[in-house]
Amino acid sequence: MRPYVYLAAATTIDGRIASASGFSRLSCPHDLRRLHALRASVDAVIIGANTAIVDNPRLTVRYVEGRNPIRVLIDGALKVPTTLRMFDSSAPTLVFTTTRAPPDKIKELKDKGVEVHVIDGDFVDPAHVLQILYTRGVRKVLLEGGGRTNWEFLSRCLVDEIVLTITPYVFGNGVTLVDGKGYATTEDAPFTLQLASIKLCECGQEVVLTYRIRCKH
Ligand SMILES: NC(=O)c1ccc[n+]([C@@H]2O[C@H](COP(=O)([O-])OP(=O)(O)OC[C@H]3O[C@@H](n4cnc5c(N)ncnc54)[C@H](OP(=O)(O)O)[C@@H]3O)[C@@H](O)[C@H]2O)c1
Repeated sequence: MRPYVYLAAATTIDGRIASASGFSRLSCPHDLRRLHALRASVDAVIIGANTAIVDNPRLTVRYVEGRNPIRVLIDGALKVPTTLRMFDSSAPTLVFTTTRAPPDKIKELKDKGVEVHVIDGDFVDPAHVLQILYTRGVRKVLLEGGGRTNWEFLSRCLVDEIVLTITPYVFGNGVTLVDGKGYATTEDAPFTLQLASIKLCECGQEVVLTYRIRCKH
């Protein structure tokens, strides 16, 4: 058993979630409120190391009323600074890392009240993360990127729903929504996508698409 997983992101029309310089503020205020409402509806939010470093998000619920989810960081080398905003005391925080992590950094985080899981090897299996969260009572998870982390979950069929906001910009370069080894043809992915809903944003310039994911096996 694992939690239900939403993947949410805002992209440019060329499918980028960030520019080459790391700029990623794409959402209008309505979209930010939608994101925070989704955060408030889940038990945990997951991000990857680069997103934590570049965006330094709090991952709390601020633009709507609601409770903060558990914050989860996946960082195999524990390269993030320990001063990140997601390590403040406003919500419980878990870090999944590996034996590549510097022991002094692990201690620093534990001293701040962060729960650190150290996995043997150099890779954090996303299925293991979901399993640990499930045993703690987490039933709904929001995956908030970035591209590499989205790939690690999606390519293993560990995403149930994608909530995608298309914004009226083009970067022409940068990080794509799903960034990994990739598939050669439309037949090669281990899942299929089914369009579930289309919504024009209140701003009139953004479109919110919802896709349900079906695993092929
Ligand atoms: N527009 C949006 O909605 C949105 C949302 C989120 C993020 N973003 C943007 O996305 C960009 C970052 O995306 P990204 O693809 O570069 O990075 P990312 O997915 O945030 O982080 C990737 C890093 O996390 C670690 N990691 C991820 N999964 C792992 C695993 N299973 N095991 C071990 N380590 C793992 C890896 O570290 P190691 O390489 O050390 O193993 C990897 O380098 C940022 O610029 C951010 O602003 C945009």
